[in-house]
Amino acid sequence: MSTYIEQHQERFLSELLEWLRIPSVSADPKFHQDVLRAADYLKMRLEEAGLENVELCPTAGNPIVYGEKLIDPSLPTVLVYGHYDVQPADPYELWDSPPFEPVIKNEKIYARGACDDKGQVYMHVKAFELMQRSQGGVPCNVKIMIEGEEEVGSSNLALFVRANKEKLKADVILISDTGILSNDQPSIEVGLRGLSYHEVEVTGPNRDLHSGLYGGAVPNPINILCKMIASLHDENNDITIPGFYDNVAVLSAEERAELNRVPHSDEEFKRSIGLKDIYGEQGYTTVERIGIRPTLDVNGIWGGYTGEGAKTVIASKAYAKISMRLVPNQTSDEITQLFQQHFERIAPPSVTVKVTPHHGGEPVVTPTDSVAYRAAAKALETTFGKKPIPTRGGGSIPIVAMFKTELGLDSVLLGFGLDSDAIHSPNEHYGVFNFLKGIETIPHFFQNYVAASRS
Ligand code: BES
Ligand code: MN
Ligand code: MN
Repeated sequence: MSTYIEQHQERFLSELLEWLRIPSVSADPKFHQDVLRAADYLKMRLEEAGLENVELCPTAGNPIVYGEKLIDPSLPTVLVYGHYDVQPADPYELWDSPPFEPVIKNEKIYARGACDDKGQVYMHVKAFELMQRSQGGVPCNVKIMIEGEEEVGSSNLALFVRANKEKLKADVILISDTGILSNDQPSIEVGLRGLSYHEVEVTGPNRDLHSGLYGGAVPNPINILCKMIASLHDENNDITIPGFYDNVAVLSAEERAELNRVPHSDEEFKRSIGLKDIYGEQGYTTVERIGIRPTLDVNGIWGGYTGEGAKTVIASKAYAKISMRLVPNQTSDEITQLFQQHFERIAPPSVTVKVTPHHGGEPVVTPTDSVAYRAAAKALETTFGKKPIPTRGGGSIPIVAMFKTELGLDSVLLGFGLDSDAIHSPNEHYGVFNFLKGIETIPHFFQNYVAASRS
């Protein structure tokens, strides 16, 4: 490993830990001041690392932290994107140590945001510092744009991107907000799923009722909501919304075989999350179910009495949050409309249904035959000693599709997380190995990219 990293790794880690102490939860307004503090902290560290024109760009929501180092207009420009906001840490009682009191245990950094995405963003800050201080400066133009609303859908960033096309002019986008297969097998995600997210409300009687006096003769909105949700999948676990699969890209047998060559074991998969058996759409492997097939999942469901003991009641209302992960060539708008229509149509006439769409996002597939992809692959091969495998991930980063449509730019997903890092869950963590490997790999990407762009 480069000596600069060895010499400075303690400081790199303590700076990251300091940043992780700030609870930059974007979903909950009570953390708004902390979100701003996290943005300020990043601005300070970017300036310290040698970025120029570092600013907090205001939006209708949380500020975007932007900085640049423009060395020569004849050289290419890499735009680094990431996010400093984090998911809520609830439920706090399931954490072994408090989510915003980061600790390093067994060579892993435990904190909300350790992997998603502050730890991965911080690799870029330190890789930049390394290039500036020990490699004679960055080898091309660099722009860094770190937003504070990725976990809530990036809608203000979308407006910012649309309004600042000149400022954001670049040749490629570099993002570390995804994962690798394992620390022995690097990989590059080349697909992200899209998202259509809804809140549904089912109303029966106009007030909560005694379940003896009325039960059996009135629609129970919770019973009905459960029935409606159950009907959204058939016996093969296919989604029953008419038209849902119409635009789903069908992969050739060769493409599917290629996809299934990634190292994966269902036994290991089951063991890692405590499952007795795998589950999913018939006719597809686990890798395909996650990488190339759309899904529908209930994320939360509530209503009625959930307190201590028993209360005999029929609630007036029942609620659920329902999300669909989308794949090429589905679009978020099309699926949102199909879902809304279908969900209203399947409701019995005795209840009222309200569907409220939340943020969405489009699926993307990034190229593997580009200069930037090859530069990333070569960088990983250098630092891991093994060629990376392209994979199709199941997660979503809504802005990536917009970078393509609005700026005409492809992204390279040079992430270093592991599925076992428990992002969005209690005890989120990030390996010290992964953090340092990222700092080591990123400068290789820049060198490879510039060298290949020149030739
Ligand atoms: N970094 C994740 C997405 C991710 C993680 C992609 C691992 C691939 C591998 C991102 O922060 C995220 O959580 N995205 C959300 C979508 C957003 C609109 C809330 C998601 O995928 O649920
Ligand atoms: Mn993320
Ligand atoms: Mn996330």
